This record gives sequence, structure tokens and C-alpha cells, in this order.
Amino acid sequence: MKKILVLLLSVSAMSFAGAAEGKAVYASKCQMCHGPEGVPKESMAKSMGLKPLADSHGDVKEIVAKGKGKMKPVAGLSEKQVADVAAYVESLRK
Ligand code: HEC
Repeated sequence: MKKILVLLLSVSAMSFAGAAEGKAVYASKCQMCHGPEGVPKESMAKSMGLKPLADSHGDVKEIVAKGKGKMKPVAGLSEKQVADVAAYVESLRK
């Protein structure tokens, strides 16, 4: 029983850290297109068909790995960085 509790606590602590660390990954790998806090510049939004990430749906990890529409897969991220950035994007969603 105690073990389960510890596990639960560490999982929830991890998901916090994930979003915070994901923000750094986001800033270096996603922000140039998606803009700060997931809000793209108007010119970008028009030319690439970007919507605010707060309104996005779908599996962020899969989109990062496989791309979507005009977005190419984002290479050079570890599995953890992908999980972190997914947590960050999910934290922007309403
Ligand atoms: C080169 C520009 C570019 C980069 C870099 C980029 N994206 Fe995208 N992303 C796009 C475009 C354009 C779309 C819209 C694709 C479509 O629907 O046609 C998109 C779509 C998405 C969507 C789906 C949005 C929706 O409305 O369904 C998510 C989630 C996403 N990107 C996350 C990320 C993350 C996380 C990163 C960084 C690891 C990233 N993107 C990096 C251009 C980019």
C-alpha cells in the first residue's frame, strides 16, 4: 500500500516537472512556428494555417514524432523531451 502511494506521488510530481521542462524544449524546438505560449504570429498563422495550441486536439507525442499536415516531424528529441513538451502543450489546452 505504501509503495503504491509513493508511486502515485512521484508520478504526479513528474508530470509537473514535465510541463516545466517541456517549456524549455518548446522554446527551442516549437516556438519559432507556434509562437510563445502556443500563440502563433499572425503572418505565420496565415501562411502555415496555424491555430493556437490551446485549441489543438490529438496526441501531441504522435504529432511531434510523425508530423501533421504542414508540420514535419520534429527530430532530435529524446523520448523524455517529447513527453515533457507534450505535457507542456497539454497544459496550454483549455
Ligand atoms: C516548422 C514549423 C513548426 C515547428 C518547428 C513545429 N510545428 Fe507544430 N505545427 C506546425 C503547423 C504548420 C501545424 C498545422 C498542421 C496542419 O494541421 O496542417 C502544426 C500543428 C501542430 C499540432 C496540432 C495542432 C492542431 O490544431 O491540431 C500540435 C499539437 C503541434 N503542432 C505541436 C508541436 C510541437 C510540440 C512542436 C515542437 C516539438 C512543434 N509543433 C513544432 C508547424 C510547426
